[in-house]
Amino acid sequence: MSFSKNKKESARDNPSDDRVQLELLKKAHSKLKQEVSKLQQANQLLTKQYEQIKKEQIEYLQNVSHQLVAPLNAIKWHIENLTEGRLGIERIKKVLRSIYSQATISVHLAKNFALMSNLEADHKLSALSEPLQPVNLCRLMVNLADDFQPLGWDKDLQIKVIDEPLDSAPEVLAIKPLISQVFSNIIENALKYSNSGNVVNIYGSYNPQNDTVSVCISNKGISLPAEGTEPIFTRGYRSTEARNIYPAGTGYGMYIASAIVDIHEGNITASTDENGRVVFTVTLSVKRLAGKARLRAAKGSTHYR
Ligand SMILES: Nc1ncnc2c1ncn2[C@@H]1O[C@H](COP(=O)(O)OP(=O)(O)O)[C@@H](O)[C@H]1O
Ligand SMILES: [Mg+2]
Repeated sequence: MSFSKNKKESARDNPSDDRVQLELLKKAHSKLKQEVSKLQQANQLLTKQYEQIKKEQIEYLQNVSHQLVAPLNAIKWHIENLTEGRLGIERIKKVLRSIYSQATISVHLAKNFALMSNLEADHKLSALSEPLQPVNLCRLMVNLADDFQPLGWDKDLQIKVIDEPLDSAPEVLAIKPLISQVFSNIIENALKYSNSGNVVNIYGSYNPQNDTVSVCISNKGISLPAEGTEPIFTRGYRSTEARNIYPAGTGYGMYIASAIVDIHEGNITASTDENGRVVFTVTLSVKRLAGKARLRAAKGSTHYR
């Protein structure tokens, strides 16, 4: 009590102290005002970013459902045709092939969307927690070519796996379902963006100098973007030519592919060869990942190919 009285008295006794206090208060106030204004700006920016993310998420979900519904509707329509029972045997064969390719597309899209939500959630695939296993790339390519061939029939496209010298390349250590999705995405594009009546070539080789295996997938159709190949691997990018010939697309296929190749410490490139064919090349190390992640204990099968 006596202390505060003494203090008051001393302040009254010393007016210059008051002025100093006032100056300090003014300075603190102005600093606070600056900080508040900075916070307001940051808040505005965050709100804008949040709105943008919300908009993108809604568009993404609409895109996902639209793309999944299209092949499922086609399957329904084909089955209706079959159950009417008025089709000849050749027509039945054609309809069944179509059902198969639409089902392949649905499974392929669903896998991509699952990977995409993983990427959206933590901006990386928590992949190295998954088991690595030796993958025979030649065999994988033959299986994928079989799976995707029916998609090419409408445009009279053929997928050709040139197995030599890829068949003598060593197995690479990889997360098989993910690596399989990389090549599925490239093959799907090769078919989608090819001119009718062409061949999609798949070939590759082992490079003993750096102990890597490269697989190339080439096709003749629309050209690569004039602005360079880097944008192809960014999220959501689609060239104008791609949009024109195939409006339903997400621009996520190559983004997912390059994210998967990255976690395998490999390399993915797009180029045009001397014959004007577009070539996607994936290079994977035979054993760079050894010791970095758990190896699959036994040779079990996964539900992916
Ligand atoms: N085989 C190809 N030939 C020409 N351009 C391609 C090919 N594959 C991919 N691209 C280009 O890369 C873009 C991104 O491909 P992707 O991420 O799979 O998305 P989407 O296929 O949905 O467009 C395509 O829109 C296209 O511009
Ligand atoms: Mg694609």
